[in-house]
Amino acid sequence: MIRPCLILFGPPGSGKGTQAKLLRQSLAVAHVSTGDMLRERMNSGDGLGKEVADLMQSGGLVPDEMVNLMVADRIEQPDCAGGFILDGFPRTVNQARLLSGLLEAKRIEPLVIHLKVDYNVIIARLSGRRQCPTCGALYGVSSNALKASEMTASEVCDYDGSRLVVRDDDREEVVLERLKAYERQTTPVLEYLRSAGYTCWDVEGASRPPQVIAKEIEELVRQKYGNPVGASETKKA
Ligand code: AP5
Repeated sequence: MIRPCLILFGPPGSGKGTQAKLLRQSLAVAHVSTGDMLRERMNSGDGLGKEVADLMQSGGLVPDEMVNLMVADRIEQPDCAGGFILDGFPRTVNQARLLSGLLEAKRIEPLVIHLKVDYNVIIARLSGRRQCPTCGALYGVSSNALKASEMTASEVCDYDGSRLVVRDDDREEVVLERLKAYERQTTPVLEYLRSAGYTCWDVEGASRPPQVIAKEIEELVRQKYGNPVGASETKKA
């Protein structure tokens, strides 16, 4: 059986989490988010959790060794047997090397989707992001992201009524640090993935509703893993 592995690549706020939540349903694959796993770790409140919290709240990256172990273990879980979406991993060349080895051993060929979004759009989006602490649903105060697009921080989740929260690392000064970390440590990963011979697509992620972007990605997935639809591959961002 072909086991799809979709790598959602892009800067903070480019819509990786939003797309992963839409695509995991339509493609029936697991969603592996290193950010979500690290936030769980952070909320555990133990010593390591506090170290993770400090790093995340400063906008820096968590050490490769920790993230690599987490992902290696996560993709062995039964829900990943039918394929998985990687959201926020790999983020350094070191992580990308580990992933290549893991995928090669499993004979999985990944598909890389690079969500292209301008930094000005990102800063505006992240200052308006709200999240449900219970189910993880994402909302944008000033975007057309999801159906509850005009809500404010005092409002509640459409799905379970929980009061929405602002992520600690969405403060503007932290967002700027996250973008710097992306430039410095993560952008070289795309070149690494291309030179590893993986299929990489650039997808415009700034000016279209999430559902439209998800449809385009679904077609690219089907083109690679079955049911081709005849889209054309881009070579460079
Ligand atoms: P992580 O949680 O992975 O955050 P990130 O990569 O910075 O990405 P975000 O979650 O902020 O954004 P996104 O691209 O998912 O966008 P979203 O869909 O939410 O990582 C957090 C931290 O954990 C890192 O800084 C680091 O410290 C650590 N970490 C994680 N992985 C690591 C790793 N591999 N190695 C080391 N450290 C790691 O959308 C954003 C907003 O835009 C939302 O409000 C949404 O509603 C809206 N929106 C989405 N799409 C659209 C659209 N098409 N139009 C309009 N609005 C939209």
